[in-house]
Amino acid sequence: MGLPRGVFCRIKISPDDKNILENTMIGRDSDLIAEEIKLVERELMGIIEQCNEPFGSMLKNMFSGGKRLRPKLVLLSGLCFSSANSEMIYSAVAAELIHTASLIHDDIIDESYFRRNQPTINYIHGNHIAVLAGDFAFAKAFEILSVHNLHRCNHYFVSAIQEMCQGEVMQAVGDPLLEENHYFEIIEKKTASLMWACCKAGAVCGKAGEEYVEKMGLYGRYLGCAFQIVDDLLDVIGDKVEVGKPVGHDLEEGKITLPYIYFFRESPLSSKYRPILKDKHLLSKVKSQIIADLKRSEAISKTYAKAEEFSQKARDALKELPESVYKKFLIELSFEVVNRKK
Ligand code: IPE
Ligand code: IPE
Ligand code: MG
Ligand code: MG
Repeated sequence: MGLPRGVFCRIKISPDDKNILENTMIGRDSDLIAEEIKLVERELMGIIEQCNEPFGSMLKNMFSGGKRLRPKLVLLSGLCFSSANSEMIYSAVAAELIHTASLIHDDIIDESYFRRNQPTINYIHGNHIAVLAGDFAFAKAFEILSVHNLHRCNHYFVSAIQEMCQGEVMQAVGDPLLEENHYFEIIEKKTASLMWACCKAGAVCGKAGEEYVEKMGLYGRYLGCAFQIVDDLLDVIGDKVEVGKPVGHDLEEGKITLPYIYFFRESPLSSKYRPILKDKHLLSKVKSQIIADLKRSEAISKTYAKAEEFSQKARDALKELPESVYKKFLIELSFEVVNRKK
């Protein structure tokens, strides 16, 4: 594993690279960090090549899709404070590995068979192998962080993973008719914690002052909440090919997310559905009817409004940061996280 010595010298982006970059891009001004993302991709591919089989092939498939939002958060948070350095690249690689590991495990938990527009590891190889593939990816991430002495980044990622586990447990054992606040607590833990860690890790790699590190963490946390709310919306109104994973799956799994919370709380139609929320079998039978009714209700616009609220809080967290093109990109990202279709 070795970055070219002049990470920071300009590297050429070929048309092929450009394709990869466009597929994975979220954020309009994508060329701004294209070189750094390319280095992250190179590192990821290098790691995969050294992996023992069957894990190498499994991870290679996983990495053929995905938006790379977490590495981008690491990079942008670092670049707000200094020019690119190898710590940023390695932390970004670790962030994507941790995210990927959490997706592999999440698909087992959610019994999900499609992700990044392809069958999941649990679908192809079964849960037993998928648990181990997820563990393997986690271990790779921590190998990178420790080999490169990224102790503070390590600390943030470890604490995010603990929160993610807690969030998933809260979701699994929670009352299906969740309260809004309980839902926010869950998404903060299961999703926003990792974005918090990415932004703090990036800022630390950029040698930001402590106050700025905290602000970046806050940005990541709010952005993560907005992101998960929209993920939950896309499960209701999204397009399977565009999002690359099944839609309508949350309800089937009895996962009552924010659009459903608003619908069941406020729509006059909801009283007929409330009694069956605990019965997965019945739920799957009336799933399309519930979704059709929900789409006609105010729940969609209310959910978007909530995502926008979190997105605004993310922008507010950046107010005192020094002005730069990277800060501008983070601001744009906060809009795009809400307006995205995938
Ligand atoms: C999916 O995250 C998991 C959630 C936290 C909702 P992404 O939507 O960022 O997944 P990829 O990396 O693009 O596949
Ligand atoms: C996010 O929740 C999962 C993680 C934080 C790993 P979801 O279960 O909604 O994510 P998707 O929709 O499967 O990507
Ligand atoms: Mg899931
Ligand atoms: Mg989802």
